[in-house]
Amino acid sequence: MAKRTRIDRRGGGRARAVGASVPRKDGAAKVTGAAKYIDDYHFPGMLYGATVRSEIPCGDIVAVRFDFDRAGFVIADYRDIPGRNIVAAIADDQPMLAEHVVRHVGEPILLIAHKDRERLLHALAHIQIEYRVHVPVLDPRESSTVFKALAIDKGDVDAGFAQADEIVEGEYSVGHQEHLYLEPNGMIAVPHDDGGVTVYGSMQCPYYVHRALRVLVGLAEHKVRVVQTETGGGFGGKEDFPSMLAGHAALLARKAKRPVKMVYDRAEDMRATPKRHPGIVRHRTGVTRDGRLTAIDVDVLLDGGAYTTLSPVVLSRALLHAAGPYRCDHVRIRGRVVQTHTPPNGAFRGFGAPQAQFAGEVQMERIAERLGLDPVRLREMNVVRPGDTMPTGQVLREDCTAAAVLAEAVKRTDFCRKRRQFAGTHRGIGLALFLHGAGFTGSGEVKLASRASLELTPRGVRVLASSAEIGQGSRTVLAQIVADELGLPYAAVDVIPPDTSLVPDSGPTVASRTSMIVGRLLQQCAREMKQRLGRLTPSGYLRKHGPLVVTREYEQPSDIEWDETTYRGDAYGTFAYGCDVAEVVFDPDTYEVRPIKITAVQEIGKVLNPTLAVGQVEGGTLQAVGYALLEEVVMLDGRMENAQMTNYTVPTTVDAPEVEVVLLEQPYRHGPFGAKGLGELPFDGPAPAIVNAIRHLGIDIRSLPATPERILDAVEKRAKCRTP
Ligand code: MOS
Repeated sequence: MAKRTRIDRRGGGRARAVGASVPRKDGAAKVTGAAKYIDDYHFPGMLYGATVRSEIPCGDIVAVRFDFDRAGFVIADYRDIPGRNIVAAIADDQPMLAEHVVRHVGEPILLIAHKDRERLLHALAHIQIEYRVHVPVLDPRESSTVFKALAIDKGDVDAGFAQADEIVEGEYSVGHQEHLYLEPNGMIAVPHDDGGVTVYGSMQCPYYVHRALRVLVGLAEHKVRVVQTETGGGFGGKEDFPSMLAGHAALLARKAKRPVKMVYDRAEDMRATPKRHPGIVRHRTGVTRDGRLTAIDVDVLLDGGAYTTLSPVVLSRALLHAAGPYRCDHVRIRGRVVQTHTPPNGAFRGFGAPQAQFAGEVQMERIAERLGLDPVRLREMNVVRPGDTMPTGQVLREDCTAAAVLAEAVKRTDFCRKRRQFAGTHRGIGLALFLHGAGFTGSGEVKLASRASLELTPRGVRVLASSAEIGQGSRTVLAQIVADELGLPYAAVDVIPPDTSLVPDSGPTVASRTSMIVGRLLQQCAREMKQRLGRLTPSGYLRKHGPLVVTREYEQPSDIEWDETTYRGDAYGTFAYGCDVAEVVFDPDTYEVRPIKITAVQEIGKVLNPTLAVGQVEGGTLQAVGYALLEEVVMLDGRMENAQMTNYTVPTTVDAPEVEVVLLEQPYRHGPFGAKGLGELPFDGPAPAIVNAIRHLGIDIRSLPATPERILDAVEKRAKCRTP
C-alpha cells in the first residue's frame, strides 16, 4: 500500500521547502498584473505581422494577386527563406511556408507586415490566391500515407486467445481537442545588425524554437537567441507550434529590418494550430470465465493531419499505454498514424495515452459486463503489481502502486455501495484505472542529454535551465528542490526565465519531465555545490574563490534499459498511477450528462508542493471532463467550423464537478525526493470514468465526446434493439 513517506535526506536535516506549499515564484507578478506576456511588449519601430493561409485542404497554388497598394508593406514568401524551408522537428516534411502545394486549410503561404494593424487587416482581405483543387483525404481510414507504424508484442497472442472462455471485441473513437490555453500563440522577432535574430514569445521549448530558427535562417548557434516570455498555458499546444510562428516572425523581421510582432487571435489560433489526435482504437480481449485476461490485442489508428510533426512519438506513447495497468502474458499492440488533409495534430497533455486508455478502460468495463463481474473485482484480479511485466517486458518495481490507487478510490467513494444504490436511477458511477510514464520514452532522455546549471549568487543560487514556467509551477518546484538539497532558504533560490543566451538546454518542457528529470539534475548540481561550498556561505565563497557554476548532464541510471529496435525494455523509468471515480446524473429531457463529482486518486512518488500538485490534478481533470462531455471540433471539408469560444465549449465554473484530489506517495528511486512526473497523469482517467458512469445508466457510449446528441443516439439504438 502506498503511503505518504518522509524521505531521509543525505547530509541530514529535514526537508523544509519540499512538501510545503511555498508561495509561487511567479505568483506576485501574475496577480498584480506586473507579469509581461508577449502582447505586452513593444519595440521601437515594430511592425505587426500576419499570415495568409490556405482556404482549401489540398491543391496547387496557381496564382497570388495583391489587390491593394503595397507601399509600406513587407511581404515574405518561401523565396525569402535563406536556409531550409522546413519546421525542423522529426521528419522535416512540413514547410514553413507553402511553395506550390497546400495540404490543409490554414496552411501558411505568405507573411505580411505593416506598422498599422488596421491597414494590415485590410490588406489581408485583398490578397487572392487561386488554386487548382485536389480531392482531399479527410478520413484516416482512407489514408494510404502512413507517417509511422509501430508494434509491441509479448508472448503468443493466439495461444492467449486459445486459453480464453470469452473474447470481447470493441471499437472506440475519440475526436480532436483544442488546447484553449488562455494566451494564444504569439512571438516577436528582433533582427540584429549582424544578421542574427532574437525571438521572444510564448512557448514550452526554447531550444526547439532555437533549432528550428537556425535551420530556417541558416545561422550559427550564437546568432540566434530565444527568450521565453511569461506564458499563459501550453498543455502541449506550445510544444511544436511555436517553432513555426517564431520562424514566420523571424522571416518578416529580417526582411523588414525591424522588429515584428505576430500574435494570433483566438479564431486563428483555433483554426490553424495543432489539436489532440483523433483516433480509432480496436480491442479484442481474451478472458477466462472468472475474469483473468489471457490475451490483449489492440489496434490504434491516429489521424496525424497533414504533416508528421510529433505524431510518431504520440503514437509510441499511445501504444505503450494501450494495455493499461494490467497483467497479461499475451499481448499484441499495433498502431499507425496516417496523413489526412487537416491541420497537423500534435502534442496535447497525455500525448496519446488518454486516447488509448479511454478505449482500454471502456473495454475493461464491457468485459466485466459480459462476464457479469463487478468492475472493481475484474480490475483487482488483473491489476499489475511489483514484479509483473508490461507489454515491452519492463519489470515493474516497488513503485508500482496501481492496486493501491484502486483500493483507495473504491474505499474513498464507497463505490460498491453507490453502484448498487444508483442502479435503475438517473445517477451513475464509474471508474477508470490508469498509468502514465513520465519523461521521454525509451532512450529519449539519453538522446536529449539535458543539462542544467546552478550559479552561486551573493544571497544564494540561481537556477539556469530551459524549463519553461507555463503555469504549472516549474520555477517554484525547481527552487524547492534546490533549496532543500543545499540547505538554503527557498527565498535564496532564484530561477531565471529561459533565455538561450543564458541557460543550457535542459530539454523541452513536456512529457511530465520537468520535476522528475530536470529537478533531479538540479538536485545533483545542488549536491555538488554543497560539497564545494563546505562551511562557507555563498557570499563567503564568492569572496574567497570567485564565481561558481555547477552543471550536470543527464545520465541514464544503469537499471533503466531500452532497446529501440525491438521495442523491449524499460519504456519509462517509472509510471505514476491513478484511479478516478466519476459520479454523473442524466437529464432525461435534454439527454445531458452532468458530472457531479470526480474523485481523483493519484500516486506521484512525492508531493513536492501540495497546492501545485492539487492544482495540476484539478486542472487536468476538468480539461478531461471537457474532452469527455463537451469539446467537439467540428471539421467540415478539413476546416474547423467552430473556432470560437461560443461554439467550441469548454467546461466553465458552472459545468465543473466537485473534484476531490487524493495524493499518494511511493518514492521513485531516481526522482528528486522520490518525485514522479505529474503533469499529464490527471488527464488519462476522467473520460473513461465518466463514460463508464454513463454505462452504469445503461447507455452504451464508445465515442468521445459524449454529447447529448451521441447519448440520444445510443439510447435510441438500444430502444430499437429491444423492440421485438
Ligand atoms: Mo506535452 S503533451 O508532452 O507538452
